[in-house]
Amino acid sequence: MAEAQIIDGKKIAGDVRAEVAKEVARLIAEHGVKPGLAVVLVGEDPASKVYVKNKAQQTVEVGMKSWEYKLPAETSEADVLALVNKLNNDAACHGILVQLPLPKHINSEKVLNSIHPDKDVDGFHPVNVGRLWVGERALVPCTPTGSIILAKSVKPNLSGMDAVVIGRSNIVGKPVAALLLRENCTVTIAHSRTKNIEDIVKCADLVIAAVGIPEMVKGSWIRPGAIVIDVGINRVPSENGKTKLVGDVAYDECAKVAGAITPVPGGVGPMTIACLLRNAAQAAAMQIGAKSVFA
Ligand code: GUN
Repeated sequence: MAEAQIIDGKKIAGDVRAEVAKEVARLIAEHGVKPGLAVVLVGEDPASKVYVKNKAQQTVEVGMKSWEYKLPAETSEADVLALVNKLNNDAACHGILVQLPLPKHINSEKVLNSIHPDKDVDGFHPVNVGRLWVGERALVPCTPTGSIILAKSVKPNLSGMDAVVIGRSNIVGKPVAALLLRENCTVTIAHSRTKNIEDIVKCADLVIAAVGIPEMVKGSWIRPGAIVIDVGINRVPSENGKTKLVGDVAYDECAKVAGAITPVPGGVGPMTIACLLRNAAQAAAMQIGAKSVFA
């Protein structure tokens, strides 16, 4: 059996950023509005600092205005809420992202729910969750959107496919299931308490793994020819005493059986920021009452 097609997330993320840059240029030319995205980072989490730096750089590269608010770890919840409120009322700022995790003394849910739903570029606000499930125009979480774009890069029409999502988080599992339903897939959500998970995954034409368990999905679980999208990013010890990144899918085994598969790194990962920029452009268009190419 031939090896699977490797889905190049880095390249496809570049294509998405190019589309965003085009849309930004159009909003400036036709409406005189430059989309703006604010990112709020509280504290010193090293991974978060890297994400925020990359986000800011890519925001500027697609022609948007970028603001970075870096607040000390001891900032009070009230001060974070006051900053979000200020950004909610700033017409030049079309998207607000509060980087997670927040320090323990801050109630993340309270902060995320204080972001105006139309500026909620993470798509985490309950209003956007509801809009997604009822099929209204919504800001949709970035990693799920990126996962669907990658699946559609192999098979543009997913209609009628049997899709199995592994994982039921609010950030990936649940929203990606809603998106698959919107694509007319038959959707199963499997999770840590699912019985006979292997048998369920084996029935899937499309597998989206987002459980956070390193290499949980084995080659023997994959139906020959299936599309496999691996959302996992797990750091595990490697042979040379250092660490390496692996997904939720045992890549080498699964690549021998699947029709197409995303690598880790270089699969879903690069799509997240690209889709964040897409959401910011969509949010800007929505706020000025313009049509958006993205939703
Ligand atoms: N921290 C890690 N990933 C994300 C993300 O997608 N959004 C936010 N707000 N924080 C994160």
